[in-house]
Amino acid sequence: MKPTNKPTIAPAKGRLALLTPGMGAVATTLFAGVEAVKRGLAEPIGSVTQMGRIRLGKRNENRSPLIKELVPIAALEDIRFGGWDVFPDDAYASATHAQVLEQDLLDQLKEPLQAIKPMEAVFAPEYVKRLHGTHVKKAPTKRELGEQLRADIRRFMKDNGCDRAVMLWCASTEVYIEPSAVHGDLASFEKGLQDNDPAIAPSMIYAWAALKEGVPFANGAPNLTIDTPALLQLAKEQGVPVMGKDFKTGQTLMKTTIAPMLKARMLGLEGWFSTNILGNRDGEVLDDPGSFKTKEVSKLSVLEHILQPKLYPELYGHFDHKVTIHYYPPRRDNKEGWDAIDIKGWLGYPMQIKVNFQCRDSILAAPVALDIALFIDLAARSGMKGIQEWMSFFFKSPQHAEGLYPEHDLFIQQTKLKNTLRHLAGEELVTHLGLDYYED
Ligand SMILES: NC(=O)c1ccc[n+]([C@@H]2O[C@H](COP(=O)([O-])OP(=O)(O)OC[C@H]3O[C@@H](n4cnc5c(N)ncnc54)[C@H](O)[C@@H]3O)[C@@H](O)[C@H]2O)c1
Repeated sequence: MKPTNKPTIAPAKGRLALLTPGMGAVATTLFAGVEAVKRGLAEPIGSVTQMGRIRLGKRNENRSPLIKELVPIAALEDIRFGGWDVFPDDAYASATHAQVLEQDLLDQLKEPLQAIKPMEAVFAPEYVKRLHGTHVKKAPTKRELGEQLRADIRRFMKDNGCDRAVMLWCASTEVYIEPSAVHGDLASFEKGLQDNDPAIAPSMIYAWAALKEGVPFANGAPNLTIDTPALLQLAKEQGVPVMGKDFKTGQTLMKTTIAPMLKARMLGLEGWFSTNILGNRDGEVLDDPGSFKTKEVSKLSVLEHILQPKLYPELYGHFDHKVTIHYYPPRRDNKEGWDAIDIKGWLGYPMQIKVNFQCRDSILAAPVALDIALFIDLAARSGMKGIQEWMSFFFKSPQHAEGLYPEHDLFIQQTKLKNTLRHLAGEELVTHLGLDYYED
């Protein structure tokens, strides 16, 4: 395909503030990981922005630069980490508590990690029932809490000499809520902030504050947050990119890899039983039915969208899909997931696939968090605003424009991501047609 019009991209000049509401397992594994990579102590394995290459032009041109050489991605050296948490622990103490990384590595990074001290959180216990934090802001209205967050952002950027910022929600999963009238447009939302409307969750106050400051916002958890007309309106008005929801890491990563294969080969599905054991704080929060419901909705939707039962009723019209997460403290962050998949083949003969993924939750999530932060900063510098569907690759429950269905298939998501990067760089899009290789 012909090169598309190359957008103008502002250079990744100066420092980038990477601000995370939530300084728990994922956030501190991200902070520590970047500090370790900067010091040459480890490799950024799992990060597309750091290790990924992209093919350009024809297959026989042998052009496959690193993605970060094709488009101007912020350098790790230019990132300054900051965050908020309901506990006052600095990033070193929090990472030690999370027990994801070995203490020996954390001790080598003690100085930079101790310097990252959480700002006071905006928190409401009715939204995360299992936590009882003390490091929490107080104000008579949600609007004032939002203004305090805006002041935090400005202060952090000034104190750290940052030119740009991105905000990435790495805090606990809030209870399930459906969009209601207060989320319908910006005027209703801002009135709701003033009136302390109970349907405005803390995550929405962070998102509002970020967008008001012109800061891109991405959501690593499944909470509703910016997936509402009101905050999308604000993102558009402010000319700021946003994306969510929920980092695509363990079981859903496997699911969105296997399900497209079944559909590609027209193999049927009778049922998919998924269960997990997880022993970290996230597991504890998800033990509450309200928070689990948010996660469950996020996890359940993927098969429907990939398999399209309406188009293929004989293959996918009646499958059972169950997802459970059990809080099991001995495993800490080392999540173990099992999938029992009942499929059917030629003439309806049944077969089974079993998956046992012994993963590490935050080891999978940290590079995804880094890529999201760096790509949404790239989007902002490229003048892209509103929902960034091309980043669906990183999300379990990707946001999408009204009237579209979300794209869950990992391979379509990857093609979309790569072609968007080619588009940004003014390179030809790759269609994989390839007939010209066989012309005389
Ligand atoms: N690890 C993964 O693979 C993965 C995948 C997808 C989504 N997620 C989501 O990412 C989020 C972070 O996961 P984690 O393992 O780091 O959890 P965690 O429990 O270790 O960390 C979350 C932190 O957020 C803090 N917090 C809660 N509410 C807050 C608020 N309103 N403001 C500021 N801080 C707040 C908590 O005190 C805690 O320190 C969770 O919502 C989780 O569901 C994680």
